[in-house]
Amino acid sequence: METVTVHTSKPYDVLIGEGLLQSAVSYLSPIVKGGAVTIVSDDRVYPLYGETLKGLLTAHGNTVHSFIFPNGEHSKTADTYVALLNFLAEHTMARTDTVIALGGGVTGDLAGFAAATYMRGIPFVQMPTTLLAMVDSSVGGKTGIDLKAGKNLAGVFYQPRLVLCDIRLMDTLEKSVFADGMAEVIKHAILAGGELKNLLVQPVRPNLEQIVKLNVSIKAGVVEADEREAGNRKLLNLGHTVGHAVETLSGYRVAHGQAIAVGICVMARVCAKKGVCSQATADEIIALFRLHGLPTETGFTARDIADTAKMDKKRQSDRITLVWIEDFGRCVLKDVDMDEYEPLIRLGLR
Ligand SMILES: NC(=O)c1ccc[n+]([C@@H]2O[C@H](COP(=O)([O-])OP(=O)(O)OC[C@H]3O[C@@H](n4cnc5c(N)ncnc54)[C@H](O)[C@@H]3O)[C@@H](O)[C@H]2O)c1
Repeated sequence: METVTVHTSKPYDVLIGEGLLQSAVSYLSPIVKGGAVTIVSDDRVYPLYGETLKGLLTAHGNTVHSFIFPNGEHSKTADTYVALLNFLAEHTMARTDTVIALGGGVTGDLAGFAAATYMRGIPFVQMPTTLLAMVDSSVGGKTGIDLKAGKNLAGVFYQPRLVLCDIRLMDTLEKSVFADGMAEVIKHAILAGGELKNLLVQPVRPNLEQIVKLNVSIKAGVVEADEREAGNRKLLNLGHTVGHAVETLSGYRVAHGQAIAVGICVMARVCAKKGVCSQATADEIIALFRLHGLPTETGFTARDIADTAKMDKKRQSDRITLVWIEDFGRCVLKDVDMDEYEPLIRLGLR
């Protein structure tokens, strides 16, 4: 088992290993003690792993409630959030009781937001079950829900007490959902370079524990330096401005990871054409996405993408912050004028 400690305002451990679910109680007991626990999970994950977790906690002496919602992004709404708050209140969850998110990024974001706001904050544990949730969303403390006007528009920063990543739980993931998470893994490899990049050209499953550990360390490093996204944490948005536009333009038929893959490949081509990185670096980045079954191009035009980005919440006034790739392990923030954005993106569309 690997442990990464995240040194935010309230430090916490991320434990990574094979089969951690079965021994979860030994790690959870200092947090849940003898109190009540609400497991939050979706209707695909709960039947696979929820009853096991509930059984273990019940045997430990905890009172366990399960809040189960329909799987998918369409559940990350104010309605589900309020239903969860009411569920916690109706089951008389107290300020010392614990919410456990067992699932992907949707579950973690939703459960974390409810845990942060119910009684102004009760203990919260993440048990991520997708690659994306393990390497990205469960670390860093961003929680929230979507509004009609856009994704993740309501939320708070709220750090979990503990994150338990059982690598084995990913064996039941659909291939496309796993590939979605690989997009964030490749993004981290571009930001950090080094060992992670080398692991990505080898078979993934035997190295998965190590891959998750390196990703969590990279994300933790960025988050620790900038917990509330005032500066360098924005590097994690590499490829996201174009990615979000592709996601939005497709009516969310292009999944987040696939859209980010396209977004990063566009930026790699832009950077190569502007002489910011070498053509060889851009080619290597694009090849990595292909190797892991992710798209590298889009049919949307530069005009479509620029117009959509204008409405992006990350845009500040008439300028836009992009992440420039100089090389693996060397990325920088670059502010560009909104007027320059469309011609830049055109360079990346081939
Ligand atoms: N908080 C953050 O910092 C942050 C960062 C990145 C993304 N996110 C959010 O994460 C969400 C996407 O996360 P996701 O891709 O994990 O989506 P998800 O939670 O919807 O999971 C994807 C699908 O996989 C299924 N699933 C999950 N674990 C499984 C398992 N072990 N076996 C079989 N099926 C399983 C789910 O039921 C769902 O159908 C988005 O809402 C995004 O905004 C948050």
